[in-house]
Amino acid sequence: MLPMAKAYKRYLVTSALPYANGPVHIGHLAGVYIPSDIYTRYLRLKGCDVVSVCGSDEHGVPITIKARKEGITPQQVVDRYHEIIRKSFEGLGMSFDIYSRTSSPTHAATASEFFRKLYDEGKFIERTSEQYYDEEAQTFLADRYIVGTCPKCGNDRAYGDQCEKCGSTLSPDELVDPRSAVSGSVPVKRETKHWYLPLNDYEAFLREWILDGHKEWKSNVYGQCKSWLDGGLQPRAVSRDLDWGIPVPVEGAEGKVLYVWFDAPIGYISATKDFTPDWEKYWKSEDTKMVHFIGKDNIVFHCIVFPSMLKAHGGYILPENVPANEFLNLEGDKISTSRNWAVWLHEYLEEFPGKEDVLRYVLCANAPETKDNDFTWKDYQARNNNELVAVLGNFVNRALVLTEKYFGGVVPACGALTDYDRETLAEVAAVKASLEADIEGYHFREALKEAMNVARIGNKYLADTEPWKVIKSDPARVETILYVALQITANTAIAIEPFMPFSAAKILRMLAAEKFSWERLGATDLVAAGHRIGRAELLFEKIDDEAIQRQLDKLAATKAANEAANEAAEAVQNIEQQKDSCTFDEFQKMDIRVSTILSAEKVAKTKKLLKLTVDTGIDRREIVSGIAEHFTPEELVGRQVLVLVNLEPRELKGILSRGMILMAEDASGKLRLLSPGEPCTNGAVVG
Ligand code: MF3
Ligand code: ZN
Repeated sequence: MLPMAKAYKRYLVTSALPYANGPVHIGHLAGVYIPSDIYTRYLRLKGCDVVSVCGSDEHGVPITIKARKEGITPQQVVDRYHEIIRKSFEGLGMSFDIYSRTSSPTHAATASEFFRKLYDEGKFIERTSEQYYDEEAQTFLADRYIVGTCPKCGNDRAYGDQCEKCGSTLSPDELVDPRSAVSGSVPVKRETKHWYLPLNDYEAFLREWILDGHKEWKSNVYGQCKSWLDGGLQPRAVSRDLDWGIPVPVEGAEGKVLYVWFDAPIGYISATKDFTPDWEKYWKSEDTKMVHFIGKDNIVFHCIVFPSMLKAHGGYILPENVPANEFLNLEGDKISTSRNWAVWLHEYLEEFPGKEDVLRYVLCANAPETKDNDFTWKDYQARNNNELVAVLGNFVNRALVLTEKYFGGVVPACGALTDYDRETLAEVAAVKASLEADIEGYHFREALKEAMNVARIGNKYLADTEPWKVIKSDPARVETILYVALQITANTAIAIEPFMPFSAAKILRMLAAEKFSWERLGATDLVAAGHRIGRAELLFEKIDDEAIQRQLDKLAATKAANEAANEAAEAVQNIEQQKDSCTFDEFQKMDIRVSTILSAEKVAKTKKLLKLTVDTGIDRREIVSGIAEHFTPEELVGRQVLVLVNLEPRELKGILSRGMILMAEDASGKLRLLSPGEPCTNGAVVG
């Protein structure tokens, strides 16, 4: 027999705290926030006791790097992005009960106390290790702050944790010629003490809890946990040498802060505290079902590290599920904040006002639930035009407009239902159970399809019953048809609310109806006969090719800018090494003069050679130069150049060449003539 599903009294939904070092993009939304909002809204509609918490993750090295780059403080960085993220979430209709931040005083106190309890109870081990230290800047260097040459590909701007050129994961010790990114100086090794959570001590507990107890978790999540556990767990440092973060609340820990992955998940607790004084019942009662919504890169922290912390602390519940998603790509490429390859939420909201639900819809319909997935603007357009406009919008609009037209906007009476009417209504009612199973099983793509089915059923019903034809012969029948169609319309508003809250509210407004509870889904008396409905408005509008092209152009511009930046960076990298030194006398031996090119012609039967006549100020002479593939004779005539005049004469193709025209060659092999900065008499000496 299957164990009975546990009956929970309340829910605690957490959504990964976004790093406040950049805005939120569609990858974050599809992976974490859209699913968590659907789940939360569903529970609320059902009347469950649910608290949904989120907030900005404001500590960690990347924020300090961003601050340094921009010449501002880390606090200024997080203030800026916290505000952008908070506002854009609100704009998209994210319905967190609280959007907090880890720089809040509540959080500092909560995280410190948490650490202190574990410390006092001897749950940490202390270890001294050697880490890179920048003597000039007098600071330990986080891995990201050490740059050097990648041992794998030779990129000389690799970081101590990763080479962005070849993608290898590195440790600072592997870098060749490590330098400090802070001061540029060569770092030295210095001893430093840190606190570690001995994860290996929690292995047995984790195995039993996850591998035996949560076989129902998504396979990507379960699989990652299993491979971590099978690989054997190691003690993990929970502190860092850094001046940005929550100070380690222990004497003799100056200059040390809590590791960001130690403090951030505690942020879920602090956020709940900030939301309600009753927070303990959400965190400390076995009657609470806690669900963590995260992206796949967060699995180990939410399934292995944080649960071990909670276990070590004691008194807290563990997550009942961790439905992590895979990644979303954009137009076939990995989304990247540093390469600006993303659709940023705050920009989308500005560029597509009133289309919040379109994004919510497309991201859910395309959510990377079981594998990485691709967002394309063409697909966005197609889903809007063919699904939202053609199915949902079309159905709701027809039901409302026909009611207005035939019955002056008053819900008609329901006459005798035909078998077909009954079947149709039964189909609508059947959506409820499958929709619930899908949402509760975290299959949001399937769930969205089910919700849209209500509108599909309605569309088919109107197409089959053809009230616009029947009205001439049997107006009483049309009363029933539209009564049924309006019930389906109201049902649509319930079914889509978790996914598209703006459109659900709009449908209710058009029906002049109050919000229905989830339990009413499937009901056939949602709007009563005689009720006056509101005015029909368009629920969705078509998105034209131009709007899509603008987005594609924007991405193309990003791509071009990235390529140019890469080329520039590569050019810098390919600069030739300095040659061995020469003495002043050696240099003095070279006689370089300002000269003017008087004539130029190709040397017959050669590809590369040009015969130039130059006025060196000393004389007129001929020089043969291998630059025919770089310059046309016309570009050269009249130009003032620099000529090494005392180079030993040499015969080339029967012409005596007396000297050499000086040129600069860049890494790509492109040649440029050198000339005096301003016109000058021929024969002027260079040196
Ligand atoms: N900031 C992290 C990320 O974006 C997520 C932190 S989740 C928390 O990957 F649990 F630590 F808060
Ligand atoms: Zn590399």
